[in-house]
Amino acid sequence: MPSISLQAALQSLPADAQEAVVDHQFIQPAFLAALGFKTGEVYPQYDTGKGLVDYAARKDYEGDVFVNTRSNPYLLIELKGQDINLCEGSAGYRRTVEQLKGYLLASNCHAAQWGILTNSVHVQLFRKHGKVVHPATACLEITPENADKLIASLRRQIEQPVKALTVAVYNNKGGVGKTTTTVNLAAILTLLGKKVLVVDCDPNQQDLTSSLGLAANEGDVSEALMTRNGDLKPAIKPFTVTSRALGKAFSFDVIPADKRFVEDVDQERKQLDEVSLRQKLKPEYLRRSLEPLKSEYDYILVDAPPNWRIFSQLAVYAADVVLMPTKHNNLFSLENAALAMKKFIPEAQKQRGDATPIALPIFFNGEKITPYQLLAAQKEINNIIRQAQRDGFNLLPYFYPRHTRAKENLHVFEVPSYANIANAAFSRIPAAYRDKTAYDYYSALAKEYFLQ
Ligand SMILES: Nc1ncnc2c1ncn2[C@@H]1O[C@H](COP(=O)(O)OP(=O)(O)OP(=O)(O)O)[C@@H](O)[C@H]1O
Ligand SMILES: [Mg+2]
Repeated sequence: MPSISLQAALQSLPADAQEAVVDHQFIQPAFLAALGFKTGEVYPQYDTGKGLVDYAARKDYEGDVFVNTRSNPYLLIELKGQDINLCEGSAGYRRTVEQLKGYLLASNCHAAQWGILTNSVHVQLFRKHGKVVHPATACLEITPENADKLIASLRRQIEQPVKALTVAVYNNKGGVGKTTTTVNLAAILTLLGKKVLVVDCDPNQQDLTSSLGLAANEGDVSEALMTRNGDLKPAIKPFTVTSRALGKAFSFDVIPADKRFVEDVDQERKQLDEVSLRQKLKPEYLRRSLEPLKSEYDYILVDAPPNWRIFSQLAVYAADVVLMPTKHNNLFSLENAALAMKKFIPEAQKQRGDATPIALPIFFNGEKITPYQLLAAQKEINNIIRQAQRDGFNLLPYFYPRHTRAKENLHVFEVPSYANIANAAFSRIPAAYRDKTAYDYYSALAKEYFLQ
């Protein structure tokens, strides 16, 4: 089919065009070509393994024509008619996002890295990294005037994918296992062959830095963050360790905490505070400085401090997704997670404008749970969910990700309490490298959240 301009295609659409019309007059003649796909590179009604997605697309390799082999799709497109409202937050939007996520994670789509939903009025791009699906743009309105620029920007993202997934490990509540989770997750992902960078974003405590036996930075981070185009590379230190348990050496990169931040604070202690630090440091600065490193790592893990002040904001604003350890027996850790989902994360999303970061479902960390305690925790969580519902938030997926409309599944992932996890900080070796049980717990965590 000869292609026409996006503008002409959009102008040809009648009001309230049904899906078939949007398909014939917009998607086929204009949208697919504008995204850079030729006829043989797009297959309609593709069997994802979990239903048919409207289009799957992949550039042809030498001799491997996608419409012939139909293997390893790169991009999936879920199409709707204009009669389905895809305004962010609408019921139709939420359903379509779930549908697209399901397809991206289905068995025939392991290679898929991108998903698009559109009804020709709105369009949104989603990225898949391992098991994580997160928005890559906000849900944007398409008009004849902005279409060329808008679709070209989606195309640029698709053609130049970012390698790293950036994860902030955050809970406003202290002592829930943020640092321990960050270190052991880094250890496991490294062991599984991923290239990992860990950032200690807690200059006051510097727990991550000291738990790995590294020296703190002395100005390299603060300089990089506070100067435009500042380079974080000089702040990166390798952490290498030989695991006797596993008979192998492992190495991942770390940006140790920068003590300059704290020293500055001490010198000015009188008026000190957040306010003077805030004048020098904006929440989006870490994200900006990490940008050039994203092509070098599979994962960038940022350990945030407790509270919602500048250093946690740096961590959360930098992230694609936020992982939140909680304690089942600590109401504050659960309420704080909900607060992050309802307030802090949306604040960061608004500032960034690309609908990220998003929260991953919470997990229970580091406590033994009796059946009775589990019931008590579920009761608290149900209260939190009900309360949020009254304020217009659906927190169900962030507490009970396996809960579906058909089935009430209240399972929450758990990293149990384990003495050898707590001890490991003294040995300067992540527990996952020293101990088979710790290894099992954290590889289960990595599989639950990140690995396909
Ligand atoms: N699964 C676990 N089993 C046993 N101990 C654990 C586990 N997870 C964390 N801990 C211990 O709990 C304590 C608090 O953990 P950690 O320092 O990681 O929490 P945090 O959230 O980073 O704290 P902060 O808010 O102060 O930064 C540490 O002593 C740690 O060793
Ligand atoms: Mg910590």
